[in-house]
Amino acid sequence: MFLKNAWYVAAWANEITRELQQITVLNEKICVFRMESGEVIALEDACPHRKLPLSKGRIKGDHVECGYHGLTFDCAGQCVWAPGGGRIPSAAKVRPYPVHEKFGLVWIWMGNAALADTDEIFEIEHFDDPAWGINKGAAMDLPCNYLLMTDNLLDPTHVAWVHDGSFAQDATKDTPLRITKTDDGIIVHRWMMDVEPAPFYKKVIGFTGNCDRKQHYEVRYPSHALIRAIFTPAGTGGDDGALHEDTFIMDSYNFMTPVSETTTRYYWFQLRNIRPDDQALSKMMSADVQHAFEEDRAVLTAVQIGLAEKTSPHIDLPIDGGQLRFRRKLEAMIAEETAVDAALM
Ligand SMILES: [Fe+2]
Repeated sequence: MFLKNAWYVAAWANEITRELQQITVLNEKICVFRMESGEVIALEDACPHRKLPLSKGRIKGDHVECGYHGLTFDCAGQCVWAPGGGRIPSAAKVRPYPVHEKFGLVWIWMGNAALADTDEIFEIEHFDDPAWGINKGAAMDLPCNYLLMTDNLLDPTHVAWVHDGSFAQDATKDTPLRITKTDDGIIVHRWMMDVEPAPFYKKVIGFTGNCDRKQHYEVRYPSHALIRAIFTPAGTGGDDGALHEDTFIMDSYNFMTPVSETTTRYYWFQLRNIRPDDQALSKMMSADVQHAFEEDRAVLTAVQIGLAEKTSPHIDLPIDGGQLRFRRKLEAMIAEETAVDAALM
């Protein structure tokens, strides 16, 4: 089950070109391309005549020509030419999807187009801030349900076992978690005071000695996460901490796009408040983060299979409180949306 009235990431902006391409979002096949002006277009990827995907046809200026009988569609999905010389049937159209390019990503609205509001796209603080550096990598394909990844991103504890050698340190095993509900999601967070920095961060922070570390794991409906890491010299952190001029902040953005019930496309990048123009640092951070995300992928791939094939019930622990709240609320949002859609049919 998926929330339809929401923006999802369809692609990195540079993945969409003047070539017709098929993408799949929420089990729907969509033909994406750029108009001559550069504007991104997304159309239902099935000619209404014999359902050949439009992505197997040709782009003609700002029109798409079906590769079977030449039915031609404009960027609003309306058929403007059909063979045979007769009237074009009124059903000769394909569904257009609202799309919007922002933050180097192409966002797509999968529900009622009348509700699509680009102001609701996940806000990325510091995206264009010259004082902040960015590192990113290619989208990853995860062979699991998207909610296993939202679970993972509401779970600061897993780093102790999955990311040993990068994000893990002893305190990540058992420092108590706090859960905050917001209007649009859940935050699971904690401060770990006067601890040695974890290996990945030790390489990048600008101070030595022990730190106060914050893990802020926030997921917003339906499947978008901000993981904020704060490292500040020991004694300057905590909820009321003064922080410090050397405080290191890394905001990790994670956007999960369900492809099907069992596959997910995962888009990610990080923003940091230090050395914005240091390309070598960006490269190292991308490589390390990608390595860590491969560790997540290996675990979640096996968890997907484990849960699907389980022969006894699975259990929940107190550390799962954020995930369970998130899932319960999202389920309610999907049920409400489904009920309203049914009433309007
Ligand atoms: Fe992880």
